[in-house]
Amino acid sequence: MKRFLSEVKDGRVPQTCWGYEEVGHTQDAKKESVALFPRDPFPTPKPEALIQRILQLATEPGDLVLDSFAGSGTTGAVAHKMGRKWIMVELGDHCDTHCRPRLQRVIDGEDTGGISMSMDWKGGGGFRYFNLAPSLLEQDKYGNWVISKEYRPEMLAEAMCKHLGFTYAPSDDAEDYWMHGRSTETDFIYVTTQSLTHAALTKLSEDVGPDRSLLVCCKAFKADADAFDNLTIVKIPQTILRKCEWGRDDYSLNVANLPMAEPDDPDEGLPLFTERSGDKS
Ligand SMILES: C[S@@+](CC[C@H](N)C(=O)[O-])C[C@H]1O[C@@H](n2cnc3c(N)ncnc32)[C@H](O)[C@@H]1O
Repeated sequence: MKRFLSEVKDGRVPQTCWGYEEVGHTQDAKKESVALFPRDPFPTPKPEALIQRILQLATEPGDLVLDSFAGSGTTGAVAHKMGRKWIMVELGDHCDTHCRPRLQRVIDGEDTGGISMSMDWKGGGGFRYFNLAPSLLEQDKYGNWVISKEYRPEMLAEAMCKHLGFTYAPSDDAEDYWMHGRSTETDFIYVTTQSLTHAALTKLSEDVGPDRSLLVCCKAFKADADAFDNLTIVKIPQTILRKCEWGRDDYSLNVANLPMAEPDDPDEGLPLFTERSGDKS
């Protein structure tokens, strides 16, 4: 094959076959894992040199590398040593027992194995660690989408506040149980998985009073949504289901990148969270 100098990246073009002398093999990876975790080596690690080759070919320094099957954290460790940013996702406990301590050692300059020598790695940088929330929605035995039982009301309230631009600030006062968050001094949000009756909404409206307004996000309601001057009432499941994809496994409380609502069909009733019909303020 003819190769032109202009095509050569970092001094060589990719080969179809990668020999273990260059990119390591399973035994090398095992040794690396034993060096990192003598008492609990990861069973199926990849050699750092292999990930290095892939990142050399596919990325530049500063690029963001995603490995959603992190295992023992090899991809993150190699990406970090190569000056790439990284995101790793791992559902197993080894996220705590392997990934996190491994990356900490990389950052502290204590990981001298793998590609550390060849990269002259001395440590530096940092990372943030998040626990993902459970999926917001799940299907019940009839196939209906419902809010997951795993979801505690506080988590749902916080997520809804973020999504709707309210500041999550639940009141400590039991009497103000409906104050989950606020957008102004007088405008509040209340999130509940309950179905609200006309009587419950009447009581809520009285508690809110004439000088405040409240966005009520509930599972369902049996009342005229326009009957209360100080309340705006929306149903959570319908609005979420029609416009969002919260039922996916990767839903977390960071809802910043959820799809924005399309303008609703004017005949369809309340638009999804982007406008507040019935908002009298
Ligand atoms: C073969 S290991 C990856 C090994 C890794 N390359 C290394 O060098 O250590 C695959 C990993 O994917 C994880 N995994 C499988 N399904 C997953 C999912 N849906 N979300 C996150 N991690 C998952 C497993 O727990 C396992 O740790």
